[in-house]
Amino acid sequence: MAIINSSTPLNSGNSIAARVLITGAAGFLGSHLCDRFIKEGYEVIGMDNLITGDLNNIQHLLN
Ligand SMILES: NC(=O)c1ccc[n+]([C@@H]2O[C@H](COP(=O)([O-])OP(=O)(O)OC[C@H]3O[C@@H](n4cnc5c(N)ncnc54)[C@H](O)[C@@H]3O)[C@@H](O)[C@H]2O)c1
Repeated sequence: MAIINSSTPLNSGNSIAARVLITGAAGFLGSHLCDRFIKEGYEVIGMDNLITGDLNNIQHLLN
């Protein structure tokens, strides 16, 4: 079991998956989560139906 707190690198251990799914990825909170997880080395899969989100929030992350 891994204990994660605000100072723990999110991708620091072999027991933690390297791929995450973030729902609401184009929203306010979700886009910041995408930034954080990508910064920590995760592969991020974002899911969003854009009902209130905006692709501009994650434009810098799109290839
Ligand atoms: N400080 C700021 O600049 C700022 C900007 C925006 C919002 N806010 C605040 O942030 C809070 C809201 O942020 P949030 O991130 O919770 O909301 P949000 O609306 O920004 O994000 C929710 C995301 O979920 C998506 N979504 C909703 N239903 C879905 C579904 N069924 N399937 C897939 N995707 C779905 C939406 O399209 C959206 O992208 C509010 O308190 C608001 O006042 C602050």
